[in-house]
Amino acid sequence: MADTPRDQWKSKLGFILAASGSAIGLGNIVFFAANAYKFGAGAFYVPYLVALFLLGIPVMIMELGIGHRTQRAYPEAMYQLGGIKGEWIGWFGLLNASVITMYYITILGWVLGMWIGAFGSLWESQAVPAFGLPEGALSNSMSYFFGMISKYETVAYVVIVWIMNAVIVWSGTKSIERAVKIFVPVMWLFMIILIFRGITLPDGPQGILLLFTPDFEVMKDFEVWQGAFSQIFFTLSLGFGIMATYASYLPKKSDQTSNALTISFMNCAFEYIAGLAVFAVLFAFAIVPRASTLSMTFFVLPEGIGSFPVGVQLFGVMFFTLLLTAGLTSSVSLVEALGAGVIDKFGMDRKKVVLIVSAIGTVGSVMFALPMVIDPSLDGNGTLGLTLLDFFDHWAFSYGLLICGLLECLLIGWVLGPEKLRESINPHSRIKLGPLFDWMIKLVIPAVILVILGFSIASEMSKGGLYGSTVETGTMQNLHVLVLAGWLVFTILGSMALTAAGGFRRNGSSQGGSDA
Ligand code: TRP
Repeated sequence: MADTPRDQWKSKLGFILAASGSAIGLGNIVFFAANAYKFGAGAFYVPYLVALFLLGIPVMIMELGIGHRTQRAYPEAMYQLGGIKGEWIGWFGLLNASVITMYYITILGWVLGMWIGAFGSLWESQAVPAFGLPEGALSNSMSYFFGMISKYETVAYVVIVWIMNAVIVWSGTKSIERAVKIFVPVMWLFMIILIFRGITLPDGPQGILLLFTPDFEVMKDFEVWQGAFSQIFFTLSLGFGIMATYASYLPKKSDQTSNALTISFMNCAFEYIAGLAVFAVLFAFAIVPRASTLSMTFFVLPEGIGSFPVGVQLFGVMFFTLLLTAGLTSSVSLVEALGAGVIDKFGMDRKKVVLIVSAIGTVGSVMFALPMVIDPSLDGNGTLGLTLLDFFDHWAFSYGLLICGLLECLLIGWVLGPEKLRESINPHSRIKLGPLFDWMIKLVIPAVILVILGFSIASEMSKGGLYGSTVETGTMQNLHVLVLAGWLVFTILGSMALTAAGGFRRNGSSQGGSDA
């Protein structure tokens, strides 16, 4: 097939906005703070900083380097660097990330629903018929949320968010650049306004102090480290195949070490300042959240905003607009990465690929929006969709991203050789990578990830169930086994099938040809 000229970012700024927009998402605004709160605030940020320097920045440099060197989307890039094995890892990473994207977009659908509610009914108490709950049984935002997800209207929200994604990636870098130039500044602006609101609340600053008081006792707990390491992959969009794809649209003469530092720095700055706002609100209203990240998003913070003395609607709408814009610039990056992988491999037309990916993605996201109530007492997740989301998240987020990162390091470390990557990065970079980089990729990072994964599996087994801290019984356990099987089949067999399918170079035209 003929190689069409490759898409390129119009400007460096466009790339930085797109890549940092991918990194900054729900993870930064609510999941980070929720994790920090779960592990006792100040106990989290030290492991998190260690994770940033130990894994985050080197893997970011590596992923950008992979795309920059090959100028191909992730699977083909990995194929060029490490053969068939590499391509398989590429598809594995993308498919695992697709699972995350499907439920991430479901969550964005709920955000859209909450956004609509924020104009009015979110702040009123209501009955939740699907759970047989009378008015006043739950807090306002909780009753709104469970009322919403137990109705089929959520499916419409999910479809709308998928359409937004398709529109944004429709013309590749051109339309992505157009969107991020609006969305990324909007989300910084709204975040900053919310921080000012947070820290000027009475007692707000005390909450912030809590965030920065380290707790060395809790740091002995390995779960904090697992939490921090998975969070760093998720928040920096690593192990998704995204950064390689975005960097593949950069000109050869671009500086990947400084790009990696800029993106990581912007991401973590956003995460910390979002943490300030969240902790100020939590402390000011003495809210004790349940540990889950979603409850932080949908009940805890809305409850805080609902208690503001003035401007409840305004700040509520602003908060959900912030979540929606930040979330969209993240989800589109994977739709683009997956689409680009398919386009590069099969030489298909972009618009057709966007439609197919979005159609399949919509079906997946709708699955996580299934409104059937399976947990009427609300001990866990309430609806079937939310339960599936929780189970898939457990595998795709806590294991999948780290597994992809591990395989990627092993491939680059031992098949290609990290010095080769350095050779293509260094000539264009102000900060030169030394041999330390090689040993990070070859040994240190794989060893750290293996230890974390080993401990996770061991704790899974020792609790006698499949699922970390809560032991499930009966139907829930069976459902969870099904989900695990589904995830394994989708990622492992799916990537084998995609790798085996015909397409690009090895059967034809340009095997070994120029890739510039
Ligand atoms: N980094 C994003 C966050 O912190 C997560 C993310 C990036 C993501 N790319 C994605 C989620 C693609 C889903 C799909 O929230």
